[in-house]
Amino acid sequence: ARHLLGIEHLAPDEIVTVLDLAERYVALNRRTVKRTEALAGLTQINMFFENSTRTQSSFELAGKRLGADVMNMSMQTSSVKKGETLIDTALTLNAMHPDLLVVRHASSGAVDLLAQKVNCAVINAGDGKHEHPTQALLDALTIRRSKGRITGLTVAICGDVAHSRVARSNMLLLGKMGNRVRLIGPPTLVPSAFGDMGAEIHDDMASGLKGADVVMMLRLQKERMDGGFIPSEREYFHRYGLDADKLSHAEPDAIVMHPGPMNRGVEIDGTIADDITRSVIQEQVEMGVAVRMAVMDLLAQNLRAERGRAAVDGTY
Ligand code: CP
Repeated sequence: ARHLLGIEHLAPDEIVTVLDLAERYVALNRRTVKRTEALAGLTQINMFFENSTRTQSSFELAGKRLGADVMNMSMQTSSVKKGETLIDTALTLNAMHPDLLVVRHASSGAVDLLAQKVNCAVINAGDGKHEHPTQALLDALTIRRSKGRITGLTVAICGDVAHSRVARSNMLLLGKMGNRVRLIGPPTLVPSAFGDMGAEIHDDMASGLKGADVVMMLRLQKERMDGGFIPSEREYFHRYGLDADKLSHAEPDAIVMHPGPMNRGVEIDGTIADDITRSVIQEQVEMGVAVRMAVMDLLAQNLRAERGRAAVDGTY
């Protein structure tokens, strides 16, 4: 494929290919000298129209470690602030011949639209409530490393599923790989329609976490609750915040995950988040760099092959 727009477009064998290559990059990233030349000569532009700590920094590091020329567009100081549209901004950058565009946008579908307008590979770094494919891939790598497999597991995704692109991409990936997914949260935050994607829905943590191998917590995404019901944080923590008592319903060796950013005392107790015997939250961040290196390496191979064919045809 030219782009990575969503897990919905990936087959199970393609997911495994990304994870296997990412394992090699995990080993490289733990060395003192981390640089390779897989993207040498290529230009990567990161366009983040929404805030990010983990995704933007890991894409930047990933590109640099692969030898690309990496540019971070500062959207706060760009002409988007003067009214330029997403598509015009993308076409302007496209005219500078980038090879990889990494895009985060608040609107679901915006990254797919942009991908239709440019000549380079586009990677979705999160679009609205739609998809965050590299997050699901890094979560899958983290789970596979902890559990030794990424199939046949019971994974509980807890909290604000309704507004979460992370939940949606994870549901798709875990379903494709043959896992059982449970969604836990209040009915206002876990619409029953998600059951159509093959997940079981629970509105209490005790029943939802029973027998879970993986417990994935989500942030309350108030920025997407425009005008809708926003629960009180204290009451929310009491019913749905992960603490030792609620975690005791999961398997004794269940791992605790959180994509970040985390709100301690709202969806997760700080003691659980910091307990390295259960929490793999920091490992998720480490896997994020390796997975993004693997994704960009594979897309660059496809891009080079496509351009090689086009050069032979005289169309590039
Ligand atoms: N998990 C995630 O996407 O984090 P950031 O918003 O910090 O990139």
